[in-house]
Amino acid sequence: MKWQRGSGVRRKGLWFRLRKILLCVLGFYIAIPFLVKLCPGIQAKLIFLNFVRVPYFIDLKKPQDQGLNHTCNYYLQPEEDVTIGVWHTIPAVWWKNAQGKDQMWFEDALASSHPIILYLHGNAGTRGGDHRVELYKVLSSLGYHVVTFDYRGWGDSVGTPSERGMTYDALHVFDWIKARSGDNPVYIWGHSLGTGVATNLVRRLCERETPPDALILESPFTNIREEAKSHPFSVIYRYFPGFDWFFLDPITSSGIKFANDENVKHISCPLLILHAEDDPVVPFQLGRKLYNIAAPSRSFRDFKVQFIPFHSDLGYRHKYIYKSPELPRILREFLGKSEPERQH
Ligand SMILES: *[C@@H]1O[C@H](CO)[C@@H](O)[C@H](O)[C@H]1NC(C)=O
Repeated sequence: MKWQRGSGVRRKGLWFRLRKILLCVLGFYIAIPFLVKLCPGIQAKLIFLNFVRVPYFIDLKKPQDQGLNHTCNYYLQPEEDVTIGVWHTIPAVWWKNAQGKDQMWFEDALASSHPIILYLHGNAGTRGGDHRVELYKVLSSLGYHVVTFDYRGWGDSVGTPSERGMTYDALHVFDWIKARSGDNPVYIWGHSLGTGVATNLVRRLCERETPPDALILESPFTNIREEAKSHPFSVIYRYFPGFDWFFLDPITSSGIKFANDENVKHISCPLLILHAEDDPVVPFQLGRKLYNIAAPSRSFRDFKVQFIPFHSDLGYRHKYIYKSPELPRILREFLGKSEPERQH
């Protein structure tokens, strides 16, 4: 009898605790949308994720620690109070010549006849992120210079993150490259959130009539609202009443658009889109939708627009397209052919 009563009390206690936890979770679930609506800055932080520094213990001043023995780290100043950290990797064939050389040598190397890729990374992490470093290695082994940087507020770059600021930093680095690169082709490569920066930049360059030689978008979305809606983070709120008002309007009211779908209509240069079918972060359909908007656009009338899907069996997901053994051929065919089609 005693034992039975004890167990009943325990069971009751457990049920009580469980109910408390459930109520708590429900409370948070309902409170979070209101919190986000009241502090739109939260959404901006979640989009930029610049405070997430992974891997944490890397010294961005020492790219050689990441196996980049032909990369120079330097700093540029796009605006007063803004400093950005840059990595410049030269084509791998010169790795021996690069040993012990300083920034001036690397800058001069931009003028020697090799094409240059300006790489615009996505949110979270730094220019030293693993999958980014692996891509620099692939591109450099194919004979490209790779110039990449951390936007203001990322890595060791100083400033406050914003879409305008990111785009401005990219424009500054582009102009800096152009001032040193002579007649060498300059390509813009954006990944994930970096595709938003890339199309902002290239739209601006086209409006200014200094387009790049090609634009490559890896795992792009159509615009930040559609991306935020399909991001795994929002899955648990997808059917929450007023989802758009709670979660998407604060993004728009913070001035964040990353409107790839709008920008491509104002871009005139060869465009290559790469997307893995099993991308869990930026759904494959968004990349395909962007292609379907760009391809018939009048702005691309004289230029090639190509979409390359990667089958889900390959497992490239959101950031492993660099592993594709097909990538060198894809780039050679696309960039090789992009030259004669250019208008002069
Ligand atoms: C330096 O980097 C190049 C290009 O990635 C590589 O081929 C070479 O083996 C590296 N050398 C050393 C000593 O690590």
